[in-house]
Amino acid sequence: MESNGLEGVVAATTRLSHVDGERGELIMAGYPLDDIAERATFEEMTWLMWHGDVPTVAELEGFRASLAAAREIPDAAVSLLRDCARRNLDAMDALRMGVDTLSLVAGDEIGIVARVPTIVATYARLRHGLEPPAARPDLGHAANVLYMLSGEIPDPERVRGLETYLNTVIDHGLNASTFTARVITSTGSDLVSAVVGALGALKGPLHGGAPGPALDMVFEIADASRAEEVLRRKLEAGDRLMGFGHRIYKVRDPRADVLARAAERLFTRAGDMSLYTLARAVEAQAIRLLEEYKPGRRLQTNVEFYTALLLHGLGLETSLFTPTFAIGRVSGWIAHALEQRRANRIIRPQSEYVGPRYKKFVPLPERGQRDVVEIGLRN
Ligand code: ACO
Repeated sequence: MESNGLEGVVAATTRLSHVDGERGELIMAGYPLDDIAERATFEEMTWLMWHGDVPTVAELEGFRASLAAAREIPDAAVSLLRDCARRNLDAMDALRMGVDTLSLVAGDEIGIVARVPTIVATYARLRHGLEPPAARPDLGHAANVLYMLSGEIPDPERVRGLETYLNTVIDHGLNASTFTARVITSTGSDLVSAVVGALGALKGPLHGGAPGPALDMVFEIADASRAEEVLRRKLEAGDRLMGFGHRIYKVRDPRADVLARAAERLFTRAGDMSLYTLARAVEAQAIRLLEEYKPGRRLQTNVEFYTALLLHGLGLETSLFTPTFAIGRVSGWIAHALEQRRANRIIRPQSEYVGPRYKKFVPLPERGQRDVVEIGLRN
């Protein structure tokens, strides 16, 4: 029997994260999200995903050093990214192609996680006509991301803000990109291939591509008094409100709360709460109108709405939102790939054929003209 979009289908067992869509709860390898996301470093979180528990002091020291030592990307990646910048390609396409070049130097888990931020920052800088950044081995993973993007040592509050974000999005059950990574791994393929495939899935606006449009929507509204009118217009036109709705969560996404708190701290510190207050008003209006237009669908705020606000508060441009998501999620993809390998069976579902059967083949010269152009499978 067909399951549309595989809704409700359990396709893997995992110890990595548990998503409870009715209780609005997210457990990260045993730890409730809101207990760990705001306190752990990204290195600790990655270790947790790969090893099943948080590291000891000695383990963390060695892990941080290995990651910091592996940040440099191959020359081929830099010249490829220069070409992407000349063509002004989408940052996710540049990242996907950049990750492909890692087969030249290091296809292992540390080699990939360490270099994804360098690829993202190199492309961002080249696009602005700047030279590629040099990584700072003395900085932690999150601090180094901000350093490579801005060229300045970030203050601890900004590092905490980014680290909270990366920890929050590191893993989330069998979402589309993680499933992609597991499918690729299940064939016996390598980690670089799994990550490249996952990046392709993450890019789409129904998955990781939503925060840019979510922020655009808040800017378009510009004033809380216009929220109802603008949102109504979008819903009347059949548009989806970006940053709302989720396949699993039927209550508020717990990640939204963690990120809203982090964003609030950043905006409070910056002394300008106007965008934050506007976003809160837009959110309230959107939830109200979604219930009016889609009664019973239980459409609530998802992680992407506050991702947009937090990353904007960190000074990141919109084109960097989805690549920054990837900087966090890549550790989760790899954790799933390793888990898949440990108890592998190729993931190979079935399809239900609904086309015609036993048509008679007509040789080309006898086929004549078609009056109406049928596009059949391309529909
Ligand atoms: N705005 C308006 N209507 C919506 C929205 C939305 N954001 N989300 C769902 N709906 C409507 C659908 O149109 C559908 O209505 P219908 O039954 O009248 O046809 C109904 O709610 C159910 O939607 P589905 O598409 O069946 O829900 P699904 O579980 O397949 O989709 C998804 C989940 C893709 C996240 C969807 O809610 C969506 O498109 N949201 C906007 C994009 C977004 O924010 N994506 C980020 C998700 S979080 C992440 O991936 C990291």
